[in-house]
Amino acid sequence: MKAWMRPLGNTGMEVSALGLGTVKLGRDQGVKYPQSFTIPDDASASALLEKAQQLGINLIDTAPAYDRSEQRLGNLLQGQRNNWLICSKVGEEFDNGQSHFDFSPEHTQMSIERSLERLKTDYIDMVLVHCDGNDQHIIDNMGTLAALEDIKKRGLIRAFGMSTKTAAGGIAAAEQSDIVMLTYNLGYRDEETVLDACAKLGSGALIKKALASGHIGPSEQAPLAGSPVEKHEDPVAASMDLIFAHEGTSSAIIGTISLDHLEQNVMAARRSLGLS
Ligand SMILES: NC(=O)c1ccc[n+]([C@@H]2O[C@H](COP(=O)([O-])OP(=O)(O)OC[C@H]3O[C@@H](n4cnc5c(N)ncnc54)[C@H](OP(=O)(O)O)[C@@H]3O)[C@@H](O)[C@H]2O)c1
Repeated sequence: MKAWMRPLGNTGMEVSALGLGTVKLGRDQGVKYPQSFTIPDDASASALLEKAQQLGINLIDTAPAYDRSEQRLGNLLQGQRNNWLICSKVGEEFDNGQSHFDFSPEHTQMSIERSLERLKTDYIDMVLVHCDGNDQHIIDNMGTLAALEDIKKRGLIRAFGMSTKTAAGGIAAAEQSDIVMLTYNLGYRDEETVLDACAKLGSGALIKKALASGHIGPSEQAPLAGSPVEKHEDPVAASMDLIFAHEGTSSAIIGTISLDHLEQNVMAARRSLGLS
């Protein structure tokens, strides 16, 4: 799949090869980025969204756990809701610098109603379970996916899935939902079998941490697994080559608040796809 606009599995939605991750629009506590940063003000955040759109990005990823991200997007996207596919999440809450989790159907329903309010919209394109690492346990015991299926039937969301942390959980999520969000990067390929499953089953696959959360410098160690990130002359290009070589990849959600990085990433993705 070498196109810029790509089917999101069998959801009927088309996503751009890169999406925009918005942790850094809302949250600066409990994050593991290599450099400290300041959350951008509204003018800078607006410029980022405008640039993303100019570059052909139509997918934006947020979550209640990204602190003020959803509320800010609700304001910033006023008048342009239809230009974007919004991905949000349920299950993880972030209060006073601490994460806690609730995957119950009741919390799922409340969380989506709250996201709709914060995002100032009457539907969310995709909602993922924001897993705590116990992927299989959540699938087997919590009733979260059934609750999301019901909410989808009622038209509040268009598709649902899970952001997982294990290969087995990702594969099970691909079997039982529309979309999986998984980690896949130069330093961590343990979940490649999830991409294989998504390709086989026709599930959407969104890559998170495609640039190892920014730990892609020549001397960086992968923070997510024990193996060192291979040295590459151009780690951004090498990351894109890895991600888009797999037929299962729908889109890579890259978190950036830098206009220059945004452009560099899009150029690298386009080159990797053979589009420029
Ligand atoms: N569901 C989940 O459990 C989960 C977990 C983590 C992330 N996510 C989603 O996935 C998105 C991406 O994950 P992530 O932010 O952890 O990791 P990432 O996209 O791999 O890396 C983002 C980091 O890389 C830096 N960066 C971006 N482009 C760069 C470039 N061209 N050169 C050098 N550095 C660059 C960014 O800094 P600058 O801002 O300076 O560009 C930022 O610090 C998140 O925003 C979020 O939406 C989901």
